[in-house]
Amino acid sequence: MNNKNILAGIALIAGVAVSSMAFAATNGEKPVHPKQGWPHEKVIGAHYDRQAAQRGFQIYREACHSCHSLNFVSFRQLEGIGFSEPEIKAIAASFTVMGEPDMETGDVKERPGQPFDYIPSTFANPEAAAASNNGAIPPDLSLMVKARPGGASYLYSILTGYREPTAEELKHVPGGKIPDGGHFNPYKAGHVIAMPPPLMDGLITYTEGQPPATVEQMAYDVSTFLAWAAEPKLEQRKSMGFVVVVFLLILTGLLFWSYKRISKQVLGH
Ligand code: HEC
Repeated sequence: MNNKNILAGIALIAGVAVSSMAFAATNGEKPVHPKQGWPHEKVIGAHYDRQAAQRGFQIYREACHSCHSLNFVSFRQLEGIGFSEPEIKAIAASFTVMGEPDMETGDVKERPGQPFDYIPSTFANPEAAAASNNGAIPPDLSLMVKARPGGASYLYSILTGYREPTAEELKHVPGGKIPDGGHFNPYKAGHVIAMPPPLMDGLITYTEGQPPATVEQMAYDVSTFLAWAAEPKLEQRKSMGFVVVVFLLILTGLLFWSYKRISKQVLGH
């Protein structure tokens, strides 16, 4: 590769990086990082903050589950954020799920959840969810962190971003005013969201020894939990990526060294 090719390669990579950053900034404000940062977004040693994720599950359950489903997460998977087997059994049993059809009558009865069940949705179908929410459907949260540019920071920003708009900001809202059932949120594309602010200070009672349940803390915790739900295998993927990069660096060094040796033997320089 001559210098020109290398430069072209760098320019291409920079171009892709810049255009993906531009994509991340939609017409909502650019998501903010929480002060603590995200341990799972580190380049080296990425990991989920398990304490935060466990508290996040509690928040999901007490403050989000009434509207949002989490269809792709089973109780058993909660082992991934450090819940023990007895804890998972107890959590599952505290939910009511639809059981298996009766062998003779085909009737389906409700029963307490088991670890192999998926977290049941509060609503029977999206129409019922929309009917309870002014016609807006609360989306399933299983893959939300992956579905939005900005990921966990976007969720954190939405959850902490509710406030009154300034007169200037109101001018940029479509129609110049917040529609009925809408709420101003600068991070949402269009600046109006149909979700009422779901968190307020002290909403959740954390167990002893946990940090105070401020809006910021709860937003951090539930976003951590939902980041884990969207990609439970992130830690393995990132550590494998690191191993691959180290391997490739060593391989590159070896190849260069053997190229030098061979060219010396064959060409004499
Ligand atoms: C009262 C019902 C309700 C509760 C409780 C609720 N939400 Fe929502 N949520 C909604 C609705 C409705 C929407 C769709 C908003 C829209 O499209 O404007 C939504 C949308 C969202 C979105 C997607 C925003 C986007 O970019 O489109 C996220 C993320 C979200 N909610 C997270 C949460 C979390 C986390 C909680 C718990 C802390 C929660 N919600 C609690 C009703 C609710």
